[in-house]
Amino acid sequence: MNRNVASSSSLYLGLILFAIFRGILAANFTLTNRCDYTVWPGILSGSGSPRLDSTGFELAPGSSRSFQAQPGWSGRFWGRTGCNFDNNSGKGSCATADCGSGQAECNGAGAIPPATLAEFTIGSGTQLDFYDVSLVDGYNLPMIIRSRWWVGHGHV
Ligand SMILES: *[C@@H]1O[C@H](CO)[C@@H](O)[C@H](O)[C@H]1NC(C)=O
Ligand SMILES: *[C@@H]1O[C@H](CO)[C@@H](O)[C@H](O)[C@H]1NC(C)=O
Repeated sequence: MNRNVASSSSLYLGLILFAIFRGILAANFTLTNRCDYTVWPGILSGSGSPRLDSTGFELAPGSSRSFQAQPGWSGRFWGRTGCNFDNNSGKGSCATADCGSGQAECNGAGAIPPATLAEFTIGSGTQLDFYDVSLVDGYNLPMIIRSRWWVGHGHV
């Protein structure tokens, strides 16, 4: 898409809004839950890509959480629904797109289909970024990715 410019994009996960803001040093992903129910996003880094700040967490309706990823990062995001995690032990599972970890953090486990996926590879150096919403593992939520790109300090 673009090189040598600060750039950004945003991604809606289903009724979850995901935003990605890409700069020269890092990509900034913002996930926003546009559903009227709680969603528990899961994040799985590709092999060789570092874990982001979380691998799974609760996102209340209307709320957002941002993550930074270094150039070259690849991975996927999805949304789990109908989760029930015990307030004391943290143990539980989700009705859709569960990762089988038995807790909110997925810890390197992916979604059990059906799960709508948002897949990203952030370019490094002059490489391009690639992303898509994929139904290869089925569908459990509507999802949209929105991109924004900046050149220098201006907006395009
Ligand atoms: C990432 O984007 C969010 C949403 O615009 C913003 O609030 C946050 O400050 C950004 N984080 C960084 C490190 O740029
Ligand atoms: C667990 O915490 C949630 C959110 O604080 C609360 O709504 C719910 O009632 C709690 N459940 C139990 C069994 O305490």
